[in-house]
Amino acid sequence: MTRMRFSITGVMCVCFAMSLRVCSAASPKFSSLALSTMHVKYGIQQWGEPHALNGDNFVVAGQTFATGVATAASSRVTVRLYGGAHVLTGSAAIDDHAAANASAVFSIWSGKTRLWTSAIMHRGDVPVSFSLNVSRAHEVTLKADRHDGNAFNCRCDWLNTTFTYHGRPPFIVDHPANWRNQFVPGAVWRDTNGVPFHAHGGGLLYYHGTWYWVGEDKSQGYNNTVGVHEYSSRDLVHWNDEGVVLPAASLPEEFRSKGVCERPKIVYNRLSNVFLMWMHLDAHRYAVARAGIATATKPAGPYRYVTSMRPINNSTFRDMNLFVDTDGGGYVIYAAENNATLYIVRLDSTYGAPRVPEMEGTTWARIAAGGYHEAPVIWHYGPVYYLLASHTSGWYPNAASLFTASTPLGPWTYRGNPFIGADSELTFYTQSTCVIPAPGHPGWFVYMGDRWNPQDLGNSRYVWLPFHINKGSDSFSIAWRSHWSLGGLDKQLKP
Ligand code: GAL
Repeated sequence: MTRMRFSITGVMCVCFAMSLRVCSAASPKFSSLALSTMHVKYGIQQWGEPHALNGDNFVVAGQTFATGVATAASSRVTVRLYGGAHVLTGSAAIDDHAAANASAVFSIWSGKTRLWTSAIMHRGDVPVSFSLNVSRAHEVTLKADRHDGNAFNCRCDWLNTTFTYHGRPPFIVDHPANWRNQFVPGAVWRDTNGVPFHAHGGGLLYYHGTWYWVGEDKSQGYNNTVGVHEYSSRDLVHWNDEGVVLPAASLPEEFRSKGVCERPKIVYNRLSNVFLMWMHLDAHRYAVARAGIATATKPAGPYRYVTSMRPINNSTFRDMNLFVDTDGGGYVIYAAENNATLYIVRLDSTYGAPRVPEMEGTTWARIAAGGYHEAPVIWHYGPVYYLLASHTSGWYPNAASLFTASTPLGPWTYRGNPFIGADSELTFYTQSTCVIPAPGHPGWFVYMGDRWNPQDLGNSRYVWLPFHINKGSDSFSIAWRSHWSLGGLDKQLKP
């Protein structure tokens, strides 16, 4: 089927080039346009890049839509239609690259009205065809929903999808993640140069009107071959590339090549006027599990490696985060005891080392002993400190845990999984990495998660979702949104 799809796409590219010519003629005529030649690069909720195919670029309103046809379940693409008669024809099938047991359901929508739905499709099934009159529709959305629950193994194809239309060409509504100041969770997110950015397992720092985002650069894959990449933004939506601010080459040999540098975070120390980066440094197969520390005199670096350590009792240090309290107290929280137990440790006034003398319950604490949590994030609002963490299943998603406390050192009380709705048990296929207050919207926060792509880590995505906390509350919920903007938050119902 894959081979057939490629040849069909080649044919459609030709049709498409012809349709452009027809469109630019003085009197509009019926034309056809191959959706497969212009979507899917910006289709949302993709787990992988579309296949790169040859063919002309498609330009609508100054935007270039690259060619490509394959898309992963769950995904969708929305097309806005302008007047005239429209017929939408095509077929749908599961890609030969999907896992043997992959299955999905395809559907086509006009707003909230379902125009067509396929039966449950399995890999190897003959493509199912459709021919729909969509002349009354303003927008048409093609959706592919995974059915076997395994998002990572299912790829779906819209084959030979063609609009017969009269007048102006349809316009793709789904765009890159920062389209019109919207966040589009799970979309390919590009920096201001148009390059998909690499800031995985990352964290944000707000400093003098600018946000700084540091994270793992996985463009060369899993190991630490590139280093820590940083981006800056004034609006959280558009990000400038600040480059690799802690190159892998500047770290000791065991933490690069076969080693890793994961979950870097930065904080600012007012007393010393120094920016500190903490990260999880590890050797091949996560064998040494240490904290790494680097410093800089500017938020966008460059950062200089200082040392590595195991902060408490020589216990392992892996997934981590930093937290600076309103009183200036700094904390590092991390998966210790071989990931069985989280440790939170008060830092000294430099934020570069644990506060001494170390004393359990006073300068550091164990959290959820034996609970196997990772990806911890701490923040506070009003009198309550919140801790969000994942469980331990490597790059594969699991259910999140929320804890609350009245001091950073606890005691911390388990409050369940704050994610709600479909896929909430898998944290919408994400793992926590940072939470920030939504600027200008008191009570609103932004959850930042990584949607890891275990087969191709460099093609992992970012999922940011807003949520609201009633001041003093021990609970809140995080719901999925396909797109949202900071400006729209106060107009939306608070869950
Ligand atoms: C995850 C962890 C990641 C990375 C991965 C390796 O659970 O959060 O940062 O260490 O495991 O399998």
